[in-house]
Order: sequence, then structure tokens, then C-alpha cells
Amino acid sequence: MTVPVQTPCFVLDLKRLRQNLETALRIREQAGCKILLATKAFAMPAVFPMMRDYLDGTTASGEQEAQMGAESFGKEVHVYSPAYAPGEVGRLSQIAQHIYFNSAAQLERYGAIAKAAGAKIGLRVNPGYSNATLGGDLYDPCAPMSRFGEVVDKLDQVDWDLVDIFHVHTLCESLAEGSVGLIEHVAENFAPYLSQVSAVNFGGGHFLNKPGYDVDALIAAIKAFRARFDLEVILEPGGGLVVNTGELHASVVDLHWNEGDIALLDASASTHMPDVLEVPYRPEIIGADEPGVLAHTYRLAGRTCMTGDIIGDYSFAQPLKAGDQIAFTDQMHYTFVKTNTFNGNPLANLAIRHEDGSLERISDFGYDAFRSRLGR
Ligand SMILES: Cc1ncc(COP(=O)(O)O)c(C=O)c1O
Repeated sequence: MTVPVQTPCFVLDLKRLRQNLETALRIREQAGCKILLATKAFAMPAVFPMMRDYLDGTTASGEQEAQMGAESFGKEVHVYSPAYAPGEVGRLSQIAQHIYFNSAAQLERYGAIAKAAGAKIGLRVNPGYSNATLGGDLYDPCAPMSRFGEVVDKLDQVDWDLVDIFHVHTLCESLAEGSVGLIEHVAENFAPYLSQVSAVNFGGGHFLNKPGYDVDALIAAIKAFRARFDLEVILEPGGGLVVNTGELHASVVDLHWNEGDIALLDASASTHMPDVLEVPYRPEIIGADEPGVLAHTYRLAGRTCMTGDIIGDYSFAQPLKAGDQIAFTDQMHYTFVKTNTFNGNPLANLAIRHEDGSLERISDFGYDAFRSRLGR
């Protein structure tokens, strides 16, 4: 089915996704490691059949994500939560073969349930290694008083007989220096614990397909680590698998003036690109530039009531008018998985640009998507 882009709409480009997945496959083959998709960053079951050929499975951050990974992706299902609630580990044991705990206390409380069900057990450790390139402490799991991972001082209290996988996640949009630095940091500082497990999971945040990421350096570091410790190595990137694989298409709904030109869009930072406000960052637009560079500068804003629902200031070669379409680039990770219907704004639909160029819309979000979240 080929349809025109009805905005707002996220469009995934399958050709570019495949290129990114080829990188993952090369790393798996040359480094001899496993790579999982972190579905918190990107979860589009319609393309899972293609992704399955390149990856080892999925990792989830909660029960419902794990269920989706098991049902729609298959292969290995890993799951980690900073805190499991009563009953969760029992249910997760039915669908995930790898269950990760955040602390010695959580492991003590629920580890036996997972073990009895035959799951491999992971323990997340806070390795005290910071390399997040985004958002400062907001995206640094090793920031002061972080709730993520058991602290080094308590590692001797862990019942390592229960643990199969030593897990660290500390990176965020990191280039190879970060990945290699983390691998070497773990090798240098945690050898006594590594000798008691069968696998190490170096988490996500490896920005594998970002221009400038030295894939060969990562491969060399994993190979050196495996040669020294003879352990299975797992990576679980999200963003790094889908960076630069798709756009958010939006339309100008109206123009406004107040000390400057303002374009009101049918897409919004608050409802469709929440990280623009949370990180914060400025998304790029195809054909647009920094304010003042091209002839016509506008502030782009959403239609919600939130005064701060502003995407940014941009300049365009031609004046904008109602009905014009614009495309925000690199909008596949941490976007449509986080959208909301605040103010009754429709969710942005999802579409795929197939490798032959045809477009297929894979969602039909309308009033039902809004209404179903408000209860009976
Ligand atoms: C434990 C864990 N693994 C993997 C990821 C995926 O990270 P990214 O999408 O930056 O690669 C995250 C992100 O927060 C995470 O917390």
C-alpha cells in the first residue's frame, strides 16, 4: 500500500535501517559478541522480522516491553528493571530467559524465583564510569546518588553463585572512546567478579552508527576482553541501531507574529518529540538552517497550551505558509515510543519507506488512541 505522508507522521527508511543493522552484524561476527535491541528506544514490531536476521534478541525495561519482545521479536528476551514489584519476576520468568537485578537486595528477594524457572540471572553493577555525551547528570547512570546498579562497596555481599551475567550500562550516545573506555574500565576494576560469571553485558549507549564512531576500535576492544576473560559479551544498544533512519514529517498549520515570526505546527515538542524539551536538544530540519542564515527565520512551535512547547528557531530560503510540510531528521529513537496525546493532539502516525521507495502507513491513530487512555 502506498500512501502520501499525512502529517504528523514518523517515517522509517528501511534502506537506512538495513545499513545500520549491517554494522551490528559485522560487530557480532567479527567481535564474537551478541547484540540485542533495547526496545525502550525503538519498538516497531512491523520491522522486527527484518531486524531479527541481524540481532540476537531484545532487551526490555519493563514487563509489557518484555511481553512485546517475546511475542513480536522472539529470539532472546532480556529484561532489567531498577526495581521489580511483587509478582513481576514470576510472570517475567515465563517470557524472558535473562532477568537482570539492580541490587544485591533485589537479587536476594527475587533471584531464586527466576533461577527456579531456568532464567539466566544478571546483576547490574554501577561501575563508576561516566561517559554520557548528552544532558549531563540527567543521562549519566553513574551520577552521584544514582539509583542504577549495585555499588562497588557492596559487591562482596553479593551471592555470586546466583549470578550469570555481569551487567553495566553507563553510556549515552557515546562514540567508540566511551565504549572502549568502559570495556577497559570493567576489565581493570572488576576481574575478581568476572571470574565468577559466564557473560558480561556492556549495556547500551554505544552510538554504533553515528558518523565518527570507530567500529573497528570497538571490535578490537571486545576481542581483547574476550581473549583475557573468555566470557560471552553482550551489547544492548537502542539509539545506535536506528540513528539517522527516519524523519518526523509535520505541516505548518498557521503563522503568528509576536516580536518575530512564529510557525505553528501539527507536530509538537511536548507531544511528539519530548526529548527536545527533556534533554534538551534542537532537531535538524531538511533544507532549514540556523536562525538568520537563510532569508526567513521562524520560531517553530506546537499547538499545545504549554508555553514552552517550542521546537526551536530556524531559517528557511522561502517564506513558510500554511500547508507546507517540513521534516525533522533523525527521529527514530526515543520519539514515537514516548509520544502522548496531551491537549487531545493526535499521536503522529507511523509509516515505513520500503526499500523500493514505496510508503506504507502502519498505524491509524485517531480518537480511539486518545480516548482509550482515559479509562472507561
Ligand atoms: C539498561 C539499559 N540498556 C540499554 C539502553 C539503551 O541505550 P541507548 O538507546 O542509548 O543505546 C538503556 C537506555 O537507557 C538502558 O538504560
